[in-house]
Formats: sequence, structure tokens, C-alpha cells
Amino acid sequence: MNLLVTGGCGFIGSNFVRQRLAGSDPLLPKLVNLDKLTYAGNPANLADCTHDPRYVFVQGDIGDPALVARLLAEHAIDAIVNFAAETHVDRSIDSPEPFVQTNVVGTLRLLNGARQHWTKLPEPRKSAFRFLHVSTDEVYGTLAPDGAPWNENCPYEPNSPYAASKAASDHLIRAFRHTYGLPTLTTNCSNNYGPYQFPEKLIPLVTLNALDGKPLPVYGDGGQIRDWLYVEDHCTAIWLVLQRGRLGETYNIGGLSEKRNLELVKTICALLDRKAPRADGSPHAALITFVQDRPGHDRRYAIDCAKIQRELGWAPRESFATGLEKTVDWYLAHLPWCREITEQRYAGERLGTKV
Ligand code: NAD
Ligand code: TYD
Repeated sequence: MNLLVTGGCGFIGSNFVRQRLAGSDPLLPKLVNLDKLTYAGNPANLADCTHDPRYVFVQGDIGDPALVARLLAEHAIDAIVNFAAETHVDRSIDSPEPFVQTNVVGTLRLLNGARQHWTKLPEPRKSAFRFLHVSTDEVYGTLAPDGAPWNENCPYEPNSPYAASKAASDHLIRAFRHTYGLPTLTTNCSNNYGPYQFPEKLIPLVTLNALDGKPLPVYGDGGQIRDWLYVEDHCTAIWLVLQRGRLGETYNIGGLSEKRNLELVKTICALLDRKAPRADGSPHAALITFVQDRPGHDRRYAIDCAKIQRELGWAPRESFATGLEKTVDWYLAHLPWCREITEQRYAGERLGTKV
């Protein structure tokens, strides 16, 4: 199938593109990556893929109907995987509008383009066409400490502007399936971690600040819980859902690794004490600084991924201990990639500036 990936220069998208292009997959003649290259999109994330004859990069907006229509027709697209989004909760609190523009309006326009393209496809390509929308567990709101992890039937209760915009996009996907019959799939995953994550998110932020001897900002009491999913496990799950997921269905994808933020930050500090000890011998954990909490901060996220396990045989393969160590090692080995972002592309912007 010829695949259109949106947001492929971001964190999860670039891992997905790399995973798909690894080896010579006969199922993948062409992979087109449509990315607007916002602050979070970085072509360097896919520098090792640009030579691949199957890979086409196009800078542009999912909300540009003419461009989307042209790409779908010109590259005879058979499936779309929509990663493109504004993704950082703190930015959505500071400025919600770009989140509605890309996550809601952009997704609507991409759906419209997909529908027009799909309607005109001849069989059997029409029946085989897929639109997979990548979403988040944050649409479900927040869990009590003893609450059962979210399954696909849980009600939507988004709390941040980011979560609300993703919830709206999920509803549009559902409506396009129900109203027009567009062959859609939705995945709702927990917090991802791994290589190429933009250093405004907790794990890379803490790792890089620690290496620089800067404060490690922990919001509130650090007792919030996230369910950490290694990005490669997530990408494998998306590919499985794309190939074998039941049309119109939602699949929750989680890492089965619930951790409190403070515990996670301390684990990163301990890893760095071993791998990159500080010159004065003091522990990295001495840099932990409790800062003002995020407004409306969700206390706990956790995913019940029994459905994708049962139907598609997927389970996370990476343990949190091994995944986190691999991730820290990756950042240590890719400091020029990090510095390019923190010192040039992202200079002067929020990177732990709340301290
Ligand atoms: P990211 O912020 O790292 O990357 C987003 C990418 O989308 C960037 O390359 C950016 O340039 C591109 N983009 C933004 N607006 C665009 C537009 N209008 N048109 C085209 N491209 C545009 O995000 P990520 O962490 O890789 O997340 C990818 C998807 O997964 C998002 O939809 C997000 O909601 C979802 N998700 C992420 C996580 C996580 O932990 N990272 C968890 C759950 C769900
Ligand atoms: P983040 O990586 O922003 O993901 P999300 O908000 O989508 O879960 O944050 C993960 C958790 O870490 C979340 O509970 C907020 C917290 N956090 C901090 O304590 N300090 C920080 O500097 C950041 C960026 C996040």
C-alpha cells in the first residue's frame, strides 16, 4: 500500500517512518510524509531515510485541502496515518488556538480530502483503503488512584485544551465512519518515550537538564502517574491496527508501566549518576526542584490494552527499565541533535523555564 503519514518529522511519526522503511517491506511501495515542520517537526529526525527511493517528504499543512487532494491523487495513496498535531499540554494551556486549528480543523480537512479520494477509488482499492487516526489516552480525563485503567468504552472527559482538541478530532473520525462510511481506525495511546522525543517533554527535558546541571522541574508534588509506552512498541501496534484492525473501531495502546513522575525523575537521575557522573560527585537528584503545578493537572493515566492484545495479539515488548535505559543512552549518544534544538531551533523558548 502507498502510505501517507502526516506529522512524520515529529517524535512518534519519525519512529514510525523509520520502522516502516527498515528492511524491504513488499507491502510498502511508497511512503509520503506530509509535515508542516512546526517547532516540533525536525527533518533531521529522518536524515537516515532521505536516500530511500520509497520515501517522499512534503512540507505542508494537513489543513491545506488543495495540497492534500494533490498528494492523495498523485501518489495513489491507499492508507493515511495521521500523527500531525499540536501535542504539548503546557503550550495548549498558554495558547489553545493552534491546537484547535491543527487538531480539529486540520483533521477535519484531512478527513474531507480522504473521503473525496476514497469515494473515487475503484475496487478493490476502495475496500482496502484505511484512515488511521493516532490519538491519546488524555481524552478520558483523569483516574482515581484505585480506578480501573481505561478501556475503549470509557466516557470522554478531556481536561486540558490539548485533550479537548484530540477528543474533538476523535469524534470527527467516528462521525466520518458513521455518516460517510469512510474506513477509519482510531488508536488512543498512553505517554510515549524513546528516541527523538522533543526536549520539552518530561523524559528528555529531565535528561538534558541534568546533564547541563540545570534544575529538574517537577510539577506539584510529583505524585502524578503516567503509563509509559516505548515508542517502538507503539509503532508496531499502529501497523498491526492498520493491517488487521476492525473498521470503525478504537484500540487503546498502553505500556503497562505506571510510574509516578517523581519516581521516574529519580530513576533518570540514578541512571545518569552511573553513565555521566557529575564533576563534583554530587547526585543528579540534588537538582530536583518542585515547581508550581500545571493548572488542571490530571493525576493519573492508565490504559487497559486487553482489546488489542486479544484481537491482534499485540503486547508491549519493552520493559520500562530497559526502555528507559535505552532512551537515556540514545540522548547521551545524540547530544548534537539535542543541542541543535535547545540552542538554535528552540532558543529562548520554554525548556524548564517555569523553575
Ligand atoms: P510531536 O509534537 O513530536 O510531532 C508532531 C508533528 O506534527 C511535528 O512534526 C509537526 O511539525 C507536525 N505538525 C503539526 N501541525 C501540523 C499540520 N498542521 N500539518 C502537518 N504537520 C503538522 O508529536 P508526537 O509526540 O510525535 O505525537 C504524534 C501524535 O501522537 C499526535 O497526534 C499526538 O496527539 C499523539 N500522541 C502522542 C503521545 C506522546 O506521548 N507523545 C501520546 C499519545 C498520543
Ligand atoms: P509531559 O511529558 O508533558 O506529557 P503529558 O502532559 O502529555 O502527560 O508530562 C508528563 C508528566 O510530567 C505530566 O504529569 C507533567 C509532568 N511534568 C513535570 O513534572 N515537569 C515538567 O517539566 C514537564 C514537562 C512535565
